[in-house]
Amino acid sequence: MDVGDWLRELGLERYEQAFRENEIDLRVLPELTADDLKELGVVAIGHRRLLLKAIADLAAGAGRAAAEDVPAASPANATGEAERRQLTVMFCDLVGSTPLSTRFDPEDLREIVGTYHRCVADTVGRFGGFVAKYMGDGVLIYFGYPEAHEDDAERAVRTGLALAERVGRLDTQASLQTRIGIATGLVVVGDLIGAGDAQERGVVGETPNLAARMQELAPPKGVVVAEGTRRLLGELFELRDLGDVAVKGFETPVPVWLGGAAERAREPLRALRAGALTPLVGREEESELLLDRWARAMAGEGQVVLLSGEPGIGKSQLTAALHERLEGERHTRLRYFCSPHHQGSALYPFIAQLERAAGFAHDDSAEARLDKLTTLIAPGARDRDEITLIADLLSLPSDAAKLDLTPERKRERLLAALLHQLDALARQQPVLMVVEDLHWIDPSSRELLDLTVERAASLPVLLIMTFRPEFQAPWSGLPQVAALTLNRLDRLSGAVMVERIAGNDKLPDALAAEIVERADGVPLFVEELTRAVIEAGAGPGGEALAGATPLPSSGVPPALHASLIARLDRLGPTAREIAQIGAVLGREFSYELIALVAQSRRAEADLQAALGAQTGAGLLFCRGIAPRSSYLFKQALIQDTSLRNAAAGAPPGIASRRGANNCRRVPGARRSPARIDRPPLERGG
Ligand SMILES: Nc1ncnc2c1ncn2[C@@H]1O[C@H](COP(=O)(O)OP(=O)(O)OP(=O)(O)O)[C@@H](O)[C@H]1O
Ligand SMILES: [Mg+2]
Repeated sequence: MDVGDWLRELGLERYEQAFRENEIDLRVLPELTADDLKELGVVAIGHRRLLLKAIADLAAGAGRAAAEDVPAASPANATGEAERRQLTVMFCDLVGSTPLSTRFDPEDLREIVGTYHRCVADTVGRFGGFVAKYMGDGVLIYFGYPEAHEDDAERAVRTGLALAERVGRLDTQASLQTRIGIATGLVVVGDLIGAGDAQERGVVGETPNLAARMQELAPPKGVVVAEGTRRLLGELFELRDLGDVAVKGFETPVPVWLGGAAERAREPLRALRAGALTPLVGREEESELLLDRWARAMAGEGQVVLLSGEPGIGKSQLTAALHERLEGERHTRLRYFCSPHHQGSALYPFIAQLERAAGFAHDDSAEARLDKLTTLIAPGARDRDEITLIADLLSLPSDAAKLDLTPERKRERLLAALLHQLDALARQQPVLMVVEDLHWIDPSSRELLDLTVERAASLPVLLIMTFRPEFQAPWSGLPQVAALTLNRLDRLSGAVMVERIAGNDKLPDALAAEIVERADGVPLFVEELTRAVIEAGAGPGGEALAGATPLPSSGVPPALHASLIARLDRLGPTAREIAQIGAVLGREFSYELIALVAQSRRAEADLQAALGAQTGAGLLFCRGIAPRSSYLFKQALIQDTSLRNAAAGAPPGIASRRGANNCRRVPGARRSPARIDRPPLERGG
């Protein structure tokens, strides 16, 4: 149907020429106002009313069609519709609360429980969790809703350990202790239940139940973790295997783990991850470049490499591989990790590195720590004051106050002291300095890096800094600085990775090819998909894989789910909703199509802003300029995640089938959106 047909249906074809001369087509119709119609020469008020009503009906019709075909493509937050998510659920309860209620009168008891609740809310808030409900002295907490983070499982355990300690130290009339249980799994976050303060979002699925059971199993001050969570944690925490335990509501005994207070390392999960599973595949040119820069650095001409690329593309892996190559060569390696948990704490990466290098132990006294630190840094310190300033930075007892410096001067001298440490190390032997994840850097560390980049030029230092595309590195253009962007792996490398990860579990060729296809050249996806397939295929009896386990149609492995959802959540509810609609339309969709489907829900400006945000965040490629643009999900897995997230009411298969039906009906839509050859697309609004 075009605008002429539409006018004819209304018996108002006399305006067709005016509409055409003014380039009014079906896309513009919903935007027309009474004034526009006047300008178009529709003088009769009756005709104007008729046209406006027909336009409103048209928009509502498109909206209805969209609602039928895009079952839940709207954020649960805004509309109350259900949403499917991976959630880490935590139950926190007080030990022996019944005796408390017999020992104290209600007034005192209220105060005690109030203090405890405030402590829980504060601790949970700090780690980015969400208190869903207070139930007497029990508290139900979500990580991953309303906002997901890629490390929700880690956040939950950190919160649990912190809570166990903080609640124990509360200054209340009775000494308190908690039991904490944590479980992770897919849930449907449903409608709002109740009203006012008591309002909560219902979560459907076995996960909350499992978390509650874990809590019951926990000893006082203990944090008990279910298997789903443990898998996401890798080696990060010291977890004690409690064996398989029979749990009410679950047919077979489930594996259970006790979270230990001590972390194995103060390095982030991803740092432990890189290189653990697969030796480097491909990346020959990039490795060459790094080795070349290393050679120059060794000759005293310090070098800086800015290593960027999307999450999971292999930045950390490449630096780890360089380190391995240099094994046996005389050099010092320094590693710094920016952390999403510490963006607000000044010089965090440098503090953490010093603590690791000095070998602080969990139960070291302040004096012991000061001794260890002094041994570490004294050789590089120009004077006693520098040791004092660095000790002060690490919150150790020091005479920093006696130095009588203005805050500005103190900061300058501290940064100089830290730089001198690098100087001293580089004078002994070449230094490989790696700073990871600059997209999470704090301003003071960044300032120190400014100084380091400058200083490195005249030292035998290779400084490699890694970051995701959202970070704008300010150092490019300097002669000692090279920028290196990691692109996706080609199919052959993808296939080699699958083969190596699968090892003895040889996968059928078609399945391996499918993994490579779905992973789109992102090594992290190759790993996780392969792992998911192997785990699913091994089954309880460990039967062979050949011929088994097709990749589920929407197989987003749990380890990836959180980070993918987090990337969508960061965009805000509107952009996420648009991503969901886009996902239903296919891997590629035109602006025209998504505007038509989304139009009853979103103003044009919102839609363009949402698409712009997704392009900017690297989730979509954009070709052309809206409204003549088209979009491509950069990763099939992002599209899958969006779909899964959207389609709580209907299984993803149905959602995508409906999407495909939709495509057939709407002009400009492509059939079989699953696979297209990637056209030369630019990134841009
Ligand atoms: N070329 C490669 N060959 C084999 N495995 C790889 C390769 N590149 C990456 N990997 C593996 O893929 C996973 C993700 O890589 P890595 O952690 O280095 O990504 P990243 O770019 O640092 O991501 P992030 O931005 O999340 O830190 C790791 O487990 C790593 O071992
Ligand atoms: Mg990394």
